Amino acid sequence: MSKNLSELSGRKGLDKNLFEELGVLARESGTPNAKDLDLLAEEFLFGKANVFGTTSFYDFLRPQNKGKKVFVCNGSSCLTAGTQNNIHAALQKEFGSDQVGEMCCLGRCHENGAFHYNGSNYSGQAIAHLDDIKRDVYPKQESYYVGSYGQQILTSTPQDPTAFYALWKHALNQTPDALLAELKASGLRGRGGAGFPIGFKLESAKNTPGTAKFVVCNADEGDPGAYSDRYLLEQQVHLVLLGMMLAGYVMGASAGVLYIRAEYPKSIENTRIAIEFLRQKGYIGKDIFGSGFNFDFKIIPGLGAYICGEETALLSSIEGQRPEVRVRPPYPTQQGLFNKPTVVNNVETLANIPYVIKNGGAAFAALGKGKSSGTKLVSLDGFFNRPGIYEVEMGTPLKVVIEELGMGFKSPIKAMHIGGPLGGLVPMSKIGDLSIDFETFASQKFLLGHASVVCLPNDYPIIDYIEHLFQFTAHESCGKCFPCRLGSTRGHELIKGAKGDGDKIDAVLFDDLITTMEIGSLCALGGGLPLPIRNALQYFKEELIPYFQA
Ligand SMILES: Cc1cc2nc3c(=O)[nH]c(=O)nc-3n(C[C@H](O)[C@H](O)[C@H](O)COP(=O)(O)O)c2cc1C
Ligand code: SF4
Repeated sequence: MSKNLSELSGRKGLDKNLFEELGVLARESGTPNAKDLDLLAEEFLFGKANVFGTTSFYDFLRPQNKGKKVFVCNGSSCLTAGTQNNIHAALQKEFGSDQVGEMCCLGRCHENGAFHYNGSNYSGQAIAHLDDIKRDVYPKQESYYVGSYGQQILTSTPQDPTAFYALWKHALNQTPDALLAELKASGLRGRGGAGFPIGFKLESAKNTPGTAKFVVCNADEGDPGAYSDRYLLEQQVHLVLLGMMLAGYVMGASAGVLYIRAEYPKSIENTRIAIEFLRQKGYIGKDIFGSGFNFDFKIIPGLGAYICGEETALLSSIEGQRPEVRVRPPYPTQQGLFNKPTVVNNVETLANIPYVIKNGGAAFAALGKGKSSGTKLVSLDGFFNRPGIYEVEMGTPLKVVIEELGMGFKSPIKAMHIGGPLGGLVPMSKIGDLSIDFETFASQKFLLGHASVVCLPNDYPIIDYIEHLFQFTAHESCGKCFPCRLGSTRGHELIKGAKGDGDKIDAVLFDDLITTMEIGSLCALGGGLPLPIRNALQYFKEELIPYFQA
């Protein structure tokens, strides 16, 4: 990260944004041309190499994707569901192989068979209707079950927006300190993976001097298997927006940035419409309700890079820098977007804020289990009899989620990958030991993460899944630190060699490799990958023995 580049990018504020401009340049031909990049570099006073470095990072800007028309979802859920080969074959037949690319992941994990064509996502049986899709007469609407267990905060029927925003007016009549006290009392912890209490983050940003501050919504939901943030942006967007507005008021930020992955076109569109509604109603803008408080939104669409979900990489991404993870401290609350105090929170975390402000911190804290207060959205994939998004009170047994909510599995399953690619690989024998909360997962040496569930059917080879995880990490590594950049690639090579050429792996060296990644990586991409690998080695030892030296 360069502090100078952050300042230079910040000169133009959010109105003209370098990263956004790169996306615009790529719209026509799939990748920006060198002359346009030079002009952008000049305009933002960036070095040409910096802008080129940024451009070459993103999947959607890479020359390899130039001119591609249609993209197959290469995420873990479509992989274990076994739908990708058929989708590839059908699309290649229809469009020609040079027109077919890949995207990760489209968040259609509830029915798989996912692909992206002409700005929209399709899944399930859609591949059988390519003619209609090309004529734009195939329905773009998908459906998945939405259910709950216990108190509903995020999944109840949305209130009429005009009535809902009475809470905003009410909140602006209170002091930021009073609202902050409720948020701290609620114990609300980040839902994006790390579980950090939001009250402390807001307090830190509030107490950092500065006139320009930012609240950033991390809607880069890149974990294959997760589509709960997508659900919130598409079905409950006002919870998210009001959550950001309240967070902004508490910390003194007048700008809210939503970084939404471009793999979710409908989320972007729906959020834009909702923001326009707020603007027309006068709920955002200058001197809102005569309170003297100003607030407005900016949507930044991502360009295909999993690491941009990591909060510091996300900030560099918005600034148009190469999205490499930053060393902390300084923390974003002290020196974040454009070097200004910034709070980055996950979509679901922010969506809980209106409930806390309306009902009080104590009411939220009373829900859930121990230090895991409130509820959690869980995403179930297409292996469940009733796939969908379920809101459960923290502490709900995993068995209840699987059997009562998901209604069991369509076919025999041997493991569930819970919490994204860096979450634990949970064998069926452990189901009874787990409940949906941070502490129980940690105590069993797994990770709740974003609580997405990708199933591995009985006939899916664990070695193939490990290979997929190394390959994913090698592709998505930001390259900042060696253990992750080299370790993920070496790991992938080792597994490939063991599978293909029978080059059996030295178990001690392999353990060295993942230990180095675990303790030496700068962020949880390289540092987190060893968790599911170790789970696989522990719980599926028999299956993996043939790939290791005796
Ligand atoms: C590789 C990586 C990917 C991440 N992806 C996401 C993501 O897609 N969405 C998210 O909210 N947090 C993601 N995080 C966590 C963020 O860095 C950060 O902790 C989070 O946005 C903070 O918000 P929260 O406190 O509300 O959870 C990721 C972290 C890492 C290391
Ligand atoms: S662990 Fe990987 S993604 Fe994270 S900083 Fe290191 S190289 Fe980048």
